[in-house]
Parts: sequence; structure tokens; C-alpha cells
Amino acid sequence: MRLLIIGSGAIGTTLAEAIQEMEEFDIFYITDKNEDRARKIAARCKKAKFISPTDESIKAHLKNVDLVVEAASQEAVQHYVPIVLGMGVDVLVMSVGAFADDDTRERCFNVAKRKGGRLYVPSGAICGTDGLHSASADVIHSVELTSTKGPKSFHDNEYLKSKGIDVNALKKKTVLFEGPAREAVQNFPKNVNVSATISLIGIGLDKTKVKLVCDPLCDCNTHRLEVKGEFGHIVCETDNLPFPSNPATSYLAALSAIAAIRRIAGNVWIGI
Ligand SMILES: NC(=O)c1ccc[n+]([C@@H]2O[C@H](COP(=O)([O-])OP(=O)(O)OC[C@H]3O[C@@H](n4cnc5c(N)ncnc54)[C@H](O)[C@@H]3O)[C@@H](O)[C@H]2O)c1
Repeated sequence: MRLLIIGSGAIGTTLAEAIQEMEEFDIFYITDKNEDRARKIAARCKKAKFISPTDESIKAHLKNVDLVVEAASQEAVQHYVPIVLGMGVDVLVMSVGAFADDDTRERCFNVAKRKGGRLYVPSGAICGTDGLHSASADVIHSVELTSTKGPKSFHDNEYLKSKGIDVNALKKKTVLFEGPAREAVQNFPKNVNVSATISLIGIGLDKTKVKLVCDPLCDCNTHRLEVKGEFGHIVCETDNLPFPSNPATSYLAALSAIAAIRRIAGNVWIGI
């Protein structure tokens, strides 16, 4: 199989190193708007080839790949995903927060349907998405996400500034926001991926409730997912460790992409 990775930051680098060791892939391409970064990975990994991030170069290489992995940004999703799916190629999206925008989501999902390419979104930085998925086969009564993070995660947030909240002055755990996922992703654009993932699997952005908590005493990144439905009750807590190279990203998110690629490339899917 052949793969193209868009984005060579924390997740893209970890993926490249994992794919280098996977026998299912004989070659993979890597690109980034920061070309030097992608070139460095290509120089380190024998199976990797750098390609330029221009549309022409990407379209030319799409004829040769089975799967594209987006590990870049929401802008990259908006720009590249319709191009990739438009050519009928499968794509795995890490910047799932882009799909909290109704227009982007409908555009990408419609191209996938029309052209037959598959669009995969891994569980990312949260656990419990498997149970939420199963629960959605019957009625779900409520989905609540509580994300607890350190002050750095809320640095320079416009919504908090407008409310006069200075996270660096907090002395104890404080709830910064409580409301529907749609408002959470609008007011906290840097904390969007997990909210978007569980909303898309479960009961949507308007019915999913999100609570964002700042803990001044730790640099944590914890997600507590609570689901109630006809099946019963799920409570699932994920206590993430950050990437040293990008503290905003949880290491588990990169591992979820590696696990998803292994499943896509394999024939046996357990716990799907
Ligand atoms: N689904 C999840 O739970 C989850 C968890 C963590 C991160 N993420 C998302 O995954 C993405 C990658 O995360 P990361 O930690 O590797 O980020 P990063 O900032 O370390 O690296 C991103 C790389 O992508 C490149 N890039 C950005 N926009 C681009 C574009 N339009 N075209 C080409 N290259 C582009 C940047 O130059 C950078 O090198 C982010 O959008 C992040 O929000 C998702």
C-alpha cells in the first residue's frame, strides 16, 4: 500500500516513524507547508519521499496512493479533503474540529458519498467512542464531556478575555464554560477536536453538553465522557500525556491514528 501524510508536526512525525516499520507500506509520501520539516522526515525515513504541498504535486501523487492522512490543521481539511475525496481516494482526518463547521462537513461528506472515497476519523485523544458508537444504534438520552486542562491550554482565548477571566490568576479548579458542544467549539477553537468527534458519533453538536475546566495546579489534559441511553450508562475517563514537541496535542491522538491505519491496512478488525 501507499500513503500520503499531510503535516509533519507532532502527529505526522510519529506516524511516519510507525509507517516506516509497517510491512504493509512499501513507500509513503510526506508534505507540509513548512517544507523543511517534511524534508527532514523524508531524509530520516527510508520509505518516505518528500513532495511539494502544491495542489498540482498532490493531485499528481494521488493517482499512486491508497490512503491520505491529514495531520495538519483545519485549513488543510477544508482545502485538501475535497480534492482527495474528489479523486475517489480514502482519507483519514485528524483535524476533525473542521467538521464542527456545517458547510465544511456537508461538503466533505457529500464528496465522499458521490465519489466513493472513505473518510475515516480516529478516536483521537479520547476513549469511549466505541461504546458511544454502539449506543447510537438505539436512543441516547445524554452525552456529556468534561475536559480539564492546565492554564496554558486557555492562553490568549478571546471568549475568556471578553468575560474578564484570567486563567493565570486562578487558585483552584474552575469551570470556564458549560454548554452545547457547538458553542464550546466556537468559543474555544483550540479545544475543538474531542468535542467534534463525540458529537459526530453521538447526538450532534447541539445536544452534546461540554464542560471545560481549568486546573491551575496541573498541566493535565483529561476527558471524562458520560453517556446515558437505552443500553445503560457509560463513564469513561482519559488522562492524557502531552507530546513534548507539541503540548497542545495528546500522545494518544497519534497512537489512535497509527491503530486506525493498521486496521485499514489489515483484514481482521476486532472491537470495531
Ligand atoms: N482528533 C484528535 O483528538 C486530535 C488530537 C490532537 C491533535 N489533533 C489535530 O491534529 C492536527 C495535527 O496535530 P499536531 O500536534 O501534529 O500539530 P503540529 O502543529 O505539531 O503540526 C502540524 C503541521 O501541519 C503543517 N500544516 C498546517 N497547515 C497546513 C496546510 N494547510 N498544508 C500543509 N501543511 C500544513 C504545519 O506546518 C505543521 O508542521 C491539528 O489540527 C490538531 O488540532 C487532533
